[in-house]
Amino acid sequence: MIIAQFSDTHIKDGSEEGVAGMQAAVAHILQLPALPDVVVITGDCTDGGTATEYARFWELLQPLPMPVYVIPGNHDHRQRLHDTVGAQGRQPLPGFMQYTVEAGPLRLLMLDTLLPGSDAGELCPQRLQWLEDRLAEAPDKTTLVFMHHPPFRTGQAPFDRIGLRDAAAFGAIIARHAQVERVAAGHVHAGVQRRFQGTVAVTCPSVMHQLLPDFRQPERLIVATEPPAMLLHVWQEGIGLLTYTSPIAPPSAIIELHNGTDWLTPPREVRARGIQGQ
Ligand SMILES: [Fe+2]
Repeated sequence: MIIAQFSDTHIKDGSEEGVAGMQAAVAHILQLPALPDVVVITGDCTDGGTATEYARFWELLQPLPMPVYVIPGNHDHRQRLHDTVGAQGRQPLPGFMQYTVEAGPLRLLMLDTLLPGSDAGELCPQRLQWLEDRLAEAPDKTTLVFMHHPPFRTGQAPFDRIGLRDAAAFGAIIARHAQVERVAAGHVHAGVQRRFQGTVAVTCPSVMHQLLPDFRQPERLIVATEPPAMLLHVWQEGIGLLTYTSPIAPPSAIIELHNGTDWLTPPREVRARGIQGQ
C-alpha cells in the first residue's frame, strides 16, 4: 500500500508557479515505478481560495487514476474547496472537511485544521472529539493522521507563530492511541521529522519552493533552491510503514539497477553521473 502525499500547491489566479509545481508533481507520480494507491494533498491547495483557483486545482489532478483526498489549509476556503472536490471519504464530520479513508491495511484520518480568518490552525473540541472517537473505534488498525498545520514547532519562527493552537490537546489524544504510526502535515514548505507523543511526526515539503530557517537566526526564512518533493508512505507486510522523501526533479529517469535476480549495469550516461550499480 503506497500513499503519496504532496502539499501546499498554492494555485493562484494570474500565477503559473503553482500550476507548474502541480503538473510536475502529477507527472512525477505517474512515472513512479510503482503507482501509488492513494494520493493525499495536505492543504493550501489554492493561494486565494477563489472558485477559479479551485477549478484549476481540480483540473490539474485529473490525470491521476487513483483516488485523491484533500484537506484544507489556512489559505483555503472550506466551502469552495468542498464544492469543487465534493464529499470525500467516510464518517465525515458535518461542517468540516474531516473524514476517514480505508486504504487496505491502513486507516487514514484526514483532519481539518482550518480556522477561518486566521493563518494559525485549530482543531477545536468538536474536531478533537471526532479524532478521539475514530481512534477509539479501531485500536488495532495501523493509522496515519493527515493535517495541514504540524502539531509541533519547526523552528521556523514565522510559521511557529501561525501553528496549531490546540497542539497540546491533540498530542494528548495521540499519546493514548498506539496505532498511530504517522502524523503527517504540510504548511511549512520543508521536510521535518521528529518524535511526537509515541509516534513519528513529519512535515511534507512543498511542490513549490522550500522555506528553510537560518538556524542561527530563526526569525529569518530563506527561499531555498532545493527541489520540490513529496512523501511516499509505504506499508509492506513484514516491514511496516516507511516514509520516503521523493524529490520532484525534472525530468528524472527511472533506471533499473536490479531485475529481481541480478544486479544490472547501468547505461554509460548514468555511470557518468556517478551511479555505478552494485
Ligand atoms: Fe499553510
